[in-house]
Amino acid sequence: STSTRTRALAESASSAAYAPNPDFDFDSLGFGLTETDEMWVAESGDDGAYAGGGMNAFGPITVSPAAQVINYGQSIFEGMKAQRSPDGNILLFRPTENAARFAAGAARMSMPAVPEEVFVRGVEETVRANASYVPPHGKGTLYLRPLLMGTGPILGLGPAPSYTFLVYCSPVGAYFKGGQLTPIKLVVEEHFHRAAPGGMGGTKAAGNYSPVLVTQLSAKKEGYADVLYLDAVENKYIEEVSSCNIFVRKGKSIKTPPLGGTILPGITRKSVIELARSKGYDVEETPVSVTELLDADEVFTTGTAVVVCPVGSITYKGKEVVYGDASDPGPTTMEIYDALTSIQAGTAEDTFGWVHPV
Ligand code: COI
Repeated sequence: STSTRTRALAESASSAAYAPNPDFDFDSLGFGLTETDEMWVAESGDDGAYAGGGMNAFGPITVSPAAQVINYGQSIFEGMKAQRSPDGNILLFRPTENAARFAAGAARMSMPAVPEEVFVRGVEETVRANASYVPPHGKGTLYLRPLLMGTGPILGLGPAPSYTFLVYCSPVGAYFKGGQLTPIKLVVEEHFHRAAPGGMGGTKAAGNYSPVLVTQLSAKKEGYADVLYLDAVENKYIEEVSSCNIFVRKGKSIKTPPLGGTILPGITRKSVIELARSKGYDVEETPVSVTELLDADEVFTTGTAVVVCPVGSITYKGKEVVYGDASDPGPTTMEIYDALTSIQAGTAEDTFGWVHPV
C-alpha cells in the first residue's frame, strides 16, 4: 500500500539516499523531463482533504475518458524548486506561498483546496523520496510540479465528483535554451491576448498555458525566446511572458505590472519586489506602457523556472530595441539574481525567512 511504501521510504532515508546520485549526469541539465523514482498521489476522498496521500512509483495514472480534467480542463499546477546548500542540505523556497496560491486557484476552478499542511507534506515527501536527484550545489535544482486535477468522471458541464493531488519532480537546469543569465529576445504580441479582466489569467490553471503556444511557436521560429503579452483592453500595457513575469528599470526606479487578475501572481515576482526594495530601489506595481518598456534602461523576467532572466532586446511592431550590449545581463538583473539565488541555495543569510529545509 502507499502508506507502507511511505514508511519504508522514511525508514530508509539514510544519508546515502539523501546525497546526489553519483552515477547521474548533473552537468548537462536543461529544462527537459527526467523521470524520477517516486511521485506523491492523494485522492480527494470523502473528507475532500486529500488526507490519505502517499508515495507511488513514478508512472502513468489511470482516469476515465470522462474525467472532468480531460473534457473540461479542471486543472491547476505549481512550480517549485528544491536545491542543495554547499553543506549538502536540501532547501525549498517559500512553500507556503505556493500552498496559498494553489488554494486560491482551486477556489477559482471550483475544486476542493488542498490544505496547506497536506500540500507542504506532499512536496516534502516527494523531495525526500527523490533526494538523489537533487543536483549537487550549483549544478541545478529539483523542479517540483504539484498538480490538482478533476479526475472523476462527469458528462455534463460541472465540477468533477473527485480530485487528485499529485506531485512529481525532475532535475532541471536553465529554462531557456541559451542558458541561465544569457539575455533573451522577446517579441511583443500585437494581436493575441493571454488573459482578459474577469478571466482566469491570475490562476495557475493548465488552460492558461496552451492558448499561448500558437504565438510562442511562431515567435520561436523567428528566433525569439518567448512572447510578451499586452493588456486585452487597451493593447498598450505590458502584462507577462506566459512563462514568467516582467520588470523594467529606469535609473533607481523599478516597475512591474500590478496583480489585477490578468497576470500570474509569481512568488519569484513577489520576492524580487521585496529584495529590490531592500537594496534601495523604488519598486512600484503599476501599469507599464509599451513606450515605458522600450525606454527602459534594463528589463528582466522572473519566475520559478526562469529564476531572474535578463532581456537583451524587445521587438515591437517590427522594431527591435536593444538593452545594454544585448549579450551580458544588466547590473540590476545580476544584483537581484545573485541576491535571490544565494538565499535560495543557502549561501546568504535568509533574512526574510524564505528558506524551508527538507
Ligand atoms: C514555473 O516557472 O515554475 C512555471 O510554472 C512556468 C512554466 C511555464 C514552466
